[in-house]
Amino acid sequence: MQTTIFVTGGAGYIGVHTLVCLLEAGHRILVLDDFSNSSPQALARVEEITGIKVPFVQGDVRDTEMLKRLFADCAAHEVPVSCVLHLAALKAVGESVSLPLKYYDVNVTGTLSLLEAMRTAGVKRIVFSSSATVYRPETTLPYTEQHAIGPSNPYGQTKAMVEQILQDFCHADRDFSAIALRYFNPIGAHHSGRIGDHPAGIPNNLFPYITRTAIGSLPVLPVFGTDYSTVDGSGVRDYIHVSDLATGHVKAIDWLCDNDIQGFHPFNLGTGRGTSVLELIDAFETANGVAVPYEVRARRSGDSAEAWADVSAANLVLNWRAQHTIEDMCRDGWNWQQKNPSGYEK
Ligand code: UFG
Repeated sequence: MQTTIFVTGGAGYIGVHTLVCLLEAGHRILVLDDFSNSSPQALARVEEITGIKVPFVQGDVRDTEMLKRLFADCAAHEVPVSCVLHLAALKAVGESVSLPLKYYDVNVTGTLSLLEAMRTAGVKRIVFSSSATVYRPETTLPYTEQHAIGPSNPYGQTKAMVEQILQDFCHADRDFSAIALRYFNPIGAHHSGRIGDHPAGIPNNLFPYITRTAIGSLPVLPVFGTDYSTVDGSGVRDYIHVSDLATGHVKAIDWLCDNDIQGFHPFNLGTGRGTSVLELIDAFETANGVAVPYEVRARRSGDSAEAWADVSAANLVLNWRAQHTIEDMCRDGWNWQQKNPSGYEK
């Protein structure tokens, strides 16, 4: 019997890249998104890339009754939901410090609502979009999945809380299984240049700041600190091509569904390699033959010096490994930026 993968937040940056991989792998999908930080145009681009129409519903994940109706509808049409991919969330670290209630509501209450609807409908599998930010910073590297949990901001707290909820739920119902994918730093874009990241306003993250400086819509890139004890003093992160991250989701879903897995399983998704801010700027300039003017500023509060992943669990268990280089990420991200200077707007 054909089943449905129900994707919350499917129109977002990670969502659209994952939809492309899911559709290319032959999965049937249904997307839920409220388009608060995304656009239906992004789903149209997924259709353009894959040639497959993307069914979607505009709605809020906190609307439990609506979710119950959607699950019941899928079952009634003989395409029951076999797995939920839960990406819908707010994701700006700084905003989560000033608006914690909003973050706990959307990210935690939203997940409780989803789990309640899944319980009613008998949907037993979930893959959750978590983050490396759940790890306690400034301790031994690389981070394995056993590393201590200790997020340092409300956004990270919501991710850690949802992981705990999933763990408890799996414990209470032995037929229920969950994967938490702990993303490191996804950057870049689909090689077609049709989908990519376009944060509203001034970007918080390094990579979109680089591309907007390179294209001239921002005058200069601030480098937050060159006095860390790292390779060149600037912060080091594990950047991963968003298309590799997307493949990781498909591997996780297939592993969960094909092997009748029980319990809660966290996996890091990264490359296992660290790149400094200055190295990334240099790689971007070299890959694309374009200048990125930057200025060294003070450290950004809350930042850690270094973070990179131990990716052996995802490699051994899910048979997944990131394929793209830093150069690929820089080239594809720049291709997207140049072709879509205003994101998905016409
Ligand atoms: N940086 C700059 N200038 C900028 C922006 C960032 O120098 O304008 C530096 C930061 O100091 C850091 C590195 O670039 O050293 C990466 O910063 P990002 O903001 O791109 O990424 P973070 O690692 O701080 O955070 C990201 C996501 C979070 C997630 C976390 C997981 O934004 O949502 O990874 O570790 F939780």
